[in-house]
Amino acid sequence: MRVVKDREVAHVLAVDDDPGVRELLSRWVTDAGYRCARAENARDAWSQLQQYEFDLVTLDLRMPGRSGLDLLKQIKREYPDVAVVMLTGGGDTTSAIDALTSGAFGYLQKPTDKKALISEIRKALEQRQVALDNRLYLESLAEKVRRQTAALADAHEETIQRLIRASLYREVETDGHIRRIGYYSELLALQAGWSCEHAKLIRLAAPLHDIGKIGIPDSILRKPGKLSPQESYLMQSHTIIGAQMLADSEVPMLQMAHEIALHHHEHWDGSGYPHGQRGHSTPEAARIVAIADAYDALSHDRIYRPALPAKLVQSALEEESGRQFDPLLLDAFLKILPAIRMMQDSNLDNGNGLVR
Ligand SMILES: [Fe+2]
Ligand SMILES: [Fe+2]
Repeated sequence: MRVVKDREVAHVLAVDDDPGVRELLSRWVTDAGYRCARAENARDAWSQLQQYEFDLVTLDLRMPGRSGLDLLKQIKREYPDVAVVMLTGGGDTTSAIDALTSGAFGYLQKPTDKKALISEIRKALEQRQVALDNRLYLESLAEKVRRQTAALADAHEETIQRLIRASLYREVETDGHIRRIGYYSELLALQAGWSCEHAKLIRLAAPLHDIGKIGIPDSILRKPGKLSPQESYLMQSHTIIGAQMLADSEVPMLQMAHEIALHHHEHWDGSGYPHGQRGHSTPEAARIVAIADAYDALSHDRIYRPALPAKLVQSALEEESGRQFDPLLLDAFLKILPAIRMMQDSNLDNGNGLVR
């Protein structure tokens, strides 16, 4: 474990195989007000770097065993915040350039003097501090953006919840149905290969599929038995009303809710409404919700009929493969039916709705 030393003064590690040079470097560095530890080779230096947090390393390029350049690369890989000043011999210009491109702050040619060394160390430490401050600032900015984005997402989610609450007042749908549709759609979206993040959007957006029913008169919404053709026509307008309510949003969740509200009664074979769209021209989110909605409607009592047994629900869905429903999505849904049934049996299933 690396021990963080007292940060009042910078901590320097002087690495050199020559005991005389080590001694001199250490004295100069200490005289300049820094703390200094010493290492006689790359291995010793690495072991100290792993145990203590140094701010800067002065590193001899040529040492018996592992070279300074090699150690520099490892330091920059593992501890990029440690500044490194290289000390080179007379003919080491190429290696010195290698050192700079490998992340050393600078290099001094031996023999060096105290003034040059301390000036180089000071500059390296200053540059290191600027880099650390910048990083800290960027991290705090990123955190701020992350918090604000999360707050915005919460606000969007709350908007949707409030819209749903409004529809519950009109008893457009039951609370249970609305929540189940969200979870079933999310599960199907995941099975269809959506990312978790995208699938979460459909969980939040799907419950708004019938929000347009707010605009349908009670005499139609709650009518037991069959609707007349004119009443049916009016009832179908809930797709358009819902789409108008959710139109022109820049919030991805509400954009998806708009697509779903408008298209969830379109059929794969083009026999649905409001536009009679076929196949993939209906957005996938709406094709997913169409299946989730039909499944839930068939599995629960409706004002005009009781719930169907599980087997009949499944065969009713299968019969509509390629007709009402996207066949591939329906296959995906049938694969996750056991999970859907488990969800249905859990506390999500809190009540049958006597609604259309
Ligand atoms: Fe609907
Ligand atoms: Fe529904």
